[in-house]
Amino acid sequence: MDAFMNTYHRLPVTFVRGEGSWLWDIQGKKYLDFTAGIAVNCLGHGYPALVKAVADQPARLCHVSNYFQSDVTAAFAEKLIAACAPVGMRNLFLANSGAEANEGACKIARKYSLKKYGPGRHRIVTLLGSFHGRTISTLSATGQEKFHRDFGPFTEGFIFVPPGDIDALDRALDAGTTAGFLIEAVQGESGIFPQEPAYIEAAAKFCTERDILFMFDEIQCGVGRTGTFLGCEAYGVKPDVVTLAKGLAGGLPVGAVLAGEKAASVFQIGDHGSTFGGNPVAAAAGLVVLEKVNNPAFLAEIARKGDKFLDVLRSWKHPHIRAVRGRGLMTAVDLDTEAWPILEAAIAGAGKGGGAEPSPPGLLMLSAGPRTLRFLPPYIISDGEIERGLEILKGLLG
Ligand SMILES: Cc1ncc(COP(=O)(O)O)c(C=O)c1O
Repeated sequence: MDAFMNTYHRLPVTFVRGEGSWLWDIQGKKYLDFTAGIAVNCLGHGYPALVKAVADQPARLCHVSNYFQSDVTAAFAEKLIAACAPVGMRNLFLANSGAEANEGACKIARKYSLKKYGPGRHRIVTLLGSFHGRTISTLSATGQEKFHRDFGPFTEGFIFVPPGDIDALDRALDAGTTAGFLIEAVQGESGIFPQEPAYIEAAAKFCTERDILFMFDEIQCGVGRTGTFLGCEAYGVKPDVVTLAKGLAGGLPVGAVLAGEKAASVFQIGDHGSTFGGNPVAAAAGLVVLEKVNNPAFLAEIARKGDKFLDVLRSWKHPHIRAVRGRGLMTAVDLDTEAWPILEAAIAGAGKGGGAEPSPPGLLMLSAGPRTLRFLPPYIISDGEIERGLEILKGLLG
């Protein structure tokens, strides 16, 4: 019997090693990585400064309770707030995952509203097609019916609106009952859909006028992935809350909920906590990521490489490609055929590497729904690697 519960539709490949944009399986076959562990390994595999930080930190200090302080966790927190200062973030709470970060955001919205307006104003509005996590409350916040089957009853008070519909948002953001609005700047799991600027502008206006917390889930699109440190920077808005995870420590588990002026003093002693949140080893890795990524030249390169993906894919005018979308290094390709067999074929195509002319590598891609391919490669991917991976894809599309 398999040791694991049957939760993942796993592809038949076991990885043992990674370097840069490449992974090697247990048989020594080589694969080009267009997934980065679903937007996690943002500096690629085996990034030397990150490896060193993660190796050195436990020898100094591996873990200390959040009832005490750690120098490296404090340094990480300060650097992260500085990185998010352009959108007005003031302080943060550190968790271990995206779902936990979003749980923290929902708790902040509810307490903010309760303390100011009393009970009954606890609703949180999110978008249809959104993805906010797998805990009962973050599933409740996730606007996709397929994730809701079998797990009710859900946390009460989440309602969904169609993305882009300003009138529906106006109606849903009812000042008498709503505490918060939670939105991904670029919807990731549902197929890379950047929000329309006019929609974000209207949302910001409604939230400000009605004192509803405006909260960005930047778990997939944050930490530089769209070519700005936060995806919401592209809209020139000042959110009240931002959540981050995934790429934040380049492969180690960490999550963060950041608060702007309005929300910064909502959590008080005893309101929230986490045993591992802000663990020094994850924080040491996070410092390396922030050092590298929060740099205008590096962010500009992410945007340029993202445009290259779009330019190459669009230049094919391929008969099986229905649409190409993206922002920065988040790219989606809608097909007229099933995506999963293509992911399988891209792995099966891997031959053994080695020698001056290695035999063909495999290609790792993600799907987003049945007929959409999704690419979230590491930021350090080279132009040559982008071209190589897309050539492999072209061959698979036939
Ligand atoms: C936008 C968004 N929010 C939240 C999550 C949940 O993050 P985690 O799996 O770390 O709990 C994800 C994960 O894919 C995500 O893409």
